[in-house]
Amino acid sequence: MWGVPLMTSPAFRVFDSPAAAVRELAFEVSQLIRSRAAAGRQAVLGLATGNTPLLFYRELIRLHREEGLSFTNVTSFNLDEYLGLPRDHAETYWTFMHRNLLDHIDLPAAQVNLPCGTLPDGEINAHCAAYEERIRQAGGLDFQVLGIGRTGHIGFNEPGSPKDSRTRRIQLDAMTRQDAAAAFGGLEQVPTHALTMGCGTILEARRIVLLAWGEHKAPIIREALRGPVTDQVSASFLQEHPNAAFYLDRGAAGALD
Ligand code: F6R
Repeated sequence: MWGVPLMTSPAFRVFDSPAAAVRELAFEVSQLIRSRAAAGRQAVLGLATGNTPLLFYRELIRLHREEGLSFTNVTSFNLDEYLGLPRDHAETYWTFMHRNLLDHIDLPAAQVNLPCGTLPDGEINAHCAAYEERIRQAGGLDFQVLGIGRTGHIGFNEPGSPKDSRTRRIQLDAMTRQDAAAAFGGLEQVPTHALTMGCGTILEARRIVLLAWGEHKAPIIREALRGPVTDQVSASFLQEHPNAAFYLDRGAAGALD
């Protein structure tokens, strides 16, 4: 057949700066929240941690303080959590989310969901199944924000994570632990395992935006966008999502054509 493009890549957009990208993203998310509020409905957000979304959260806080954006009709689900740290440890994602977003906005605590990293092994499977069930009962994820690890992981879906994987316990890749070592004050302090939403859980979100900044992300961004769709690079599954986009700065886009 002539003239039928093979749409195998999700959209990507290159911004002058991370600040410009997150302004656009926060505007899109705020429109979703406000339109749902006007209809008396919840907006279900999937949230990430790490360095990448920090500016995005700062912009959401600004919209809340200066432009009256309320989060009372938001339900949030975080992607992942380290296993084996006390909840109030400085490096848990629970602490990260409270410090960088939740303590500064009006999202009701009962509508915040994070995987629990303090459970004994015997309770983990039931907890993960219940997490999936809570997402389902909330109506599924409307909008998932992602970062990307140098292994190509989304959430903590390290190489080998199947496309249909669900929320579960995972062993962290050596490179992922290395990347976290400075924050933890040494590699041996970095947890070896985490809980993560699965690729399948993430891919069911109705809209997905993956953020990446800096030259150190350029090689994996190229693989995720231009390489084969493979479980060796879980972000490559986004190529097959109908409504996913990569928001990049010039550094992260530097290895694309
Ligand atoms: C965090 C997460 C991870 C990070 C990724 C990038 O919740 O799910 O996939 O997004 O490891 O981390 P940073 O942003 O620190 O480079």
